[in-house]
Amino acid sequence: MFPLNQWYVAGFASELQDKPLARVLLNHPVVMFRTADGGVAALEDRCCHRSVPLSCGTLDGGGIRCGYHGLLYAASGQCIEIPGQTKIPGKAKVAAYPAVVRNGVIWIWFGEQPGVQPDTQPPELAAHEDARYRYKTGAFHYKAPYQLIHDNLLDLSHVGYLHGKTIGGNPKVHMEAPTIVSGDEEHVRVVRWMKASTPPATYTSAWPFKGLVDRWQEIEFHTTHLHIFTGAVEAGAEPLENPQRGGFHMRGFHGITPETANTSHYFWSMASSSHPEQPDNIDVVYQQTEQTFEEDRVLIEAQYQNMRQFDGAAIIDIHVDAGANRARRIIATQIAAQLSDQASAHVAA
Ligand code: FES
Ligand SMILES: [Fe+2]
Repeated sequence: MFPLNQWYVAGFASELQDKPLARVLLNHPVVMFRTADGGVAALEDRCCHRSVPLSCGTLDGGGIRCGYHGLLYAASGQCIEIPGQTKIPGKAKVAAYPAVVRNGVIWIWFGEQPGVQPDTQPPELAAHEDARYRYKTGAFHYKAPYQLIHDNLLDLSHVGYLHGKTIGGNPKVHMEAPTIVSGDEEHVRVVRWMKASTPPATYTSAWPFKGLVDRWQEIEFHTTHLHIFTGAVEAGAEPLENPQRGGFHMRGFHGITPETANTSHYFWSMASSSHPEQPDNIDVVYQQTEQTFEEDRVLIEAQYQNMRQFDGAAIIDIHVDAGANRARRIIATQIAAQLSDQASAHVAA
């Protein structure tokens, strides 16, 4: 079971071209396409005639036409044309999911009650619209459950060991960095500072740092996505307490969407501020971020394989796990509430 009543990332608006976009999300095969008004439709990927995937069909006037016998569906999921037949049965429709494009990201709502419209908007991605930043997007498919990716992103102590060629640095400095974990029933925040530390390769490639830097990592976890604000200023140049501080900024967005219980989609974007001497630093930032995330993918898939190999073996917690454990408690509580809702509905029925 996955957390419901949530907006999940389903992809990027740039993927909505002249063909249907098929993706399994939370175990649901979904087909997405651009609507006539420039929005996005997300339908169950199954024709109600003979169950052919609608994604095998073609886009047609803001709807989608099945590639087998030509039934045409509107963005609402309603069949609006059966070639050669005037009467369209009332049952000729497929499920439609609420879906929205915001800041270049496709969001899809998975609710506890099918057909109930969400009362919230998907979150804003301010860095995608901020003139101080340029950004690029990417996606990885993981052969691992989604919460292992949460664990990884909520614990950036690992960057010194795993990402030494890019965003890492001295592993000991990372492990010893003061870390503050806070949050509430829906969010986790993890803040780490590494003052007067040696800038890692990505930072010196993207920004003309001359000496030591004051470096920060600010992680904000939500059930379906994380925002991670990292960066650095010349050591002592300005206080890290100042939210408007300058310097080199990397603003990462991480949409973690379960595909199945054992596989995941990882949709990400990276926005960076640029220095006048390096106006195009987004290119090196993106290339090194992609390399970094590929290192994570390889390691997490190996971790998951080993978890299966050593199924049930005891594990321990250490100090770096506080944020990830908090996020796991949030999701466990959400799923327990859903199970309770289901049990109540069963009794009422
Ligand atoms: S299976 Fe889709 S129209 Fe027949
Ligand atoms: Fe990593």
